[in-house]
Amino acid sequence: MAGCPVVSRLTWRTNYLLLLVICACVIVWITSLSESHMKMREQVTTSAKVQTKAKNEMKQGEAVVERMPKDLCPEKSPLLRGAMRLEFRPSLTLEQVEEENKGVSEGQYEPEECKARQSVAVLIPHRNREKHLMYLLHHLHPFLQRQQLHYAIYIIHQAGDATFNRAKLLNIGYLEALKNFNWDCFIFHDVDLVPENDHNLYTCAKQPKHLVVGRNSTGYRLRYNGYFGGVTAMSKEQFAKVNGFPNTYWGWGGEDDDLRLRVQLQGMKVVRPQADVARYTMVFHKRDNGNEVNKDRMRLLGQTPKMWRKDGLNSCTYKTLSVEHPALYINITVDIGNQLKAH
Ligand SMILES: *[C@@H]1O[C@H](CO)[C@@H](O)[C@H](O)[C@H]1NC(C)=O
Ligand SMILES: *[C@@H]1O[C@H](CO)[C@@H](O)[C@H](O)[C@H]1NC(C)=O
Repeated sequence: MAGCPVVSRLTWRTNYLLLLVICACVIVWITSLSESHMKMREQVTTSAKVQTKAKNEMKQGEAVVERMPKDLCPEKSPLLRGAMRLEFRPSLTLEQVEEENKGVSEGQYEPEECKARQSVAVLIPHRNREKHLMYLLHHLHPFLQRQQLHYAIYIIHQAGDATFNRAKLLNIGYLEALKNFNWDCFIFHDVDLVPENDHNLYTCAKQPKHLVVGRNSTGYRLRYNGYFGGVTAMSKEQFAKVNGFPNTYWGWGGEDDDLRLRVQLQGMKVVRPQADVARYTMVFHKRDNGNEVNKDRMRLLGQTPKMWRKDGLNSCTYKTLSVEHPALYINITVDIGNQLKAH
């Protein structure tokens, strides 16, 4: 039994040594591991830095290639030509007009040389007047391009053969065009009036603008004091402020006077360009079937002060039947109901 404590002390010492060795080993292993981990992290960081740098360089490269910041177009376009003699060649075709306007895509155009000062939607109510539309497109596209505008031409086509409703079609044009783009300015344009002088600017001003002072069919005189028909320009805000056109004028006449009353009721004032500039050629003079004189117009006009809030953009209901995108315009076909039964 006497040797026993010696043996057990020896074993105890050996165990103690062994434990020390193992501990040392573990410490050495941990240190080497963390060192190699640090190295790895360093490598990852440097390679990330290299990548970010490369990315930044690429971004700068792209910016140079893709987004040359354009200067704002000059206040007065250098491309304007003034009064021009208009031609209405009987042999003209829509294909030729397309050929002459390669810069227009799906009815829309933007100047390449500079950033346009206004984005303008031209709204044309339409039914069965393809020939006149062709002549208007033929003159209007180059005219608007010389004015260095960003623009689109919308045709609002009344489906069916109920009495024509110009005003409601224009309300629809406004509502539909704003779904495509946040236009600054709207031009409400009859299909049979062609502008003769490109100093007649299709832009919006602080007040609603009436662009037709004279036309060849009236000896270039204003039809009557207060006339606000044919072609007018109102900003998005101005038109919203008057609740747009009334929807209740079916047939020819009165709706333009109603719009003028709405403008005046809102404390705005109609302005016009100079008479020698605001000249138009009227391509036809005969009114078509389905657009008879609106005999009710005088009664309706009497009610405008109390009706304008209820009858307009906020009550314009319709069904869009199709939206087509030929080269030179956007064609929105709508069912607007009829005089007895609007939607
Ligand atoms: C106006 O000019 C157009 C195109 O030249 C012509 O067709 C039309 O007959 C003219 N109108 C009048 C009343 O002179
Ligand atoms: C517009 O589209 C309708 C429906 O497809 C079509 O009947 C009409 O002829 C088109 N109008 C124009 C001017 O393209």
